[in-house]
Amino acid sequence: MKIGVVGLGTMGGGIAQLCVEAGLDTVGREVTLDLGENARDRIGHFLGRKVEKGQIESFDLARLSLTTELADLAGCDVVIEAIVEALGPKQELFAELERVCGPSTVLATNTSALSVTEIAAGTSSPERVVGMHFFNPAPLMPLVEIVRAQLTSDDAFETAFALGEKLGKHPIRCHDTPGFVVNRVLIPLLNDCVRVLDEARVSVEDLDAGMKHGAGWPMGPCELLDLVGIDIHVHASDALYDKLREPRMAAPPRLVAMANAGLLGRKSGRGFYTY
Ligand code: CAA
Repeated sequence: MKIGVVGLGTMGGGIAQLCVEAGLDTVGREVTLDLGENARDRIGHFLGRKVEKGQIESFDLARLSLTTELADLAGCDVVIEAIVEALGPKQELFAELERVCGPSTVLATNTSALSVTEIAAGTSSPERVVGMHFFNPAPLMPLVEIVRAQLTSDDAFETAFALGEKLGKHPIRCHDTPGFVVNRVLIPLLNDCVRVLDEARVSVEDLDAGMKHGAGWPMGPCELLDLVGIDIHVHASDALYDKLREPRMAAPPRLVAMANAGLLGRKSGRGFYTY
């Protein structure tokens, strides 16, 4: 089985890592070769750590080939898209993928907040478009949501489900509704947590301790927002609010101000915490 991954940022890089670890031939596409090589170095680092810790015996980084050309994805059985979260660029990409890939290639999107049906509408073969929504950090989080859009075929849906299993994930099946399953619940919950910061005048550290030690979360909400990226979370909140119009979905002003100030979390070195 040969897998294409378009976009090797945090999510795409993590997904490509899972493919290499599963021994699948993988083609990673980035806009420049430098970006691709940075991603491959990160993948080598994380898989190397797994070998050092005895979690895996070995891995073959040569399974991952890098390209800047979409045409090199032609022979893939499944292509997973993990580019910027914007409808226009995703629709353009899927239309181009449809042109370069054979008719049997399944086209999957890792979108977290956009509609898979709307992305598929940019193609003339929407039956082969499906959602495969991984969680951050993709190599560590067991879940993948397999999202059925309006016109997704059973074949494409089950191919994506089987790939999720092959990558060692716990796939769940759902339909294309705003936020799918987890973000529909998690995004308003994280927004509530941020509102509590001001309402209860609790410190960031104490709120995180509260949710870790009182609710069994593996990391506190502020740590998690820093991990996800404040800008990504605000964008996802906006998308959900736009569709559902529930006040809890709207990003709290504190988060919008942080995003505008460039306090994006781990990736910018500062968010709720300094890194
Ligand atoms: N990629 C690959 N490997 C990684 C990695 C990454 N990004 N980050 C860490 N690792 C590896 C490291 O090699 C590390 O080992 P070493 O330090 O020995 O090198 C190993 O994983 C374990 O790391 P940690 O000790 O940090 O692991 P942990 O036990 O503390 O768990 C966690 C980390 C899995 C992130 C855990 O804290 C957790 O489950 N947090 C919650 C995360 C969460 O909720 N994510 C969902 C976000 S929402 C989302 O993603 C939806 C969306 O659409 C935006």
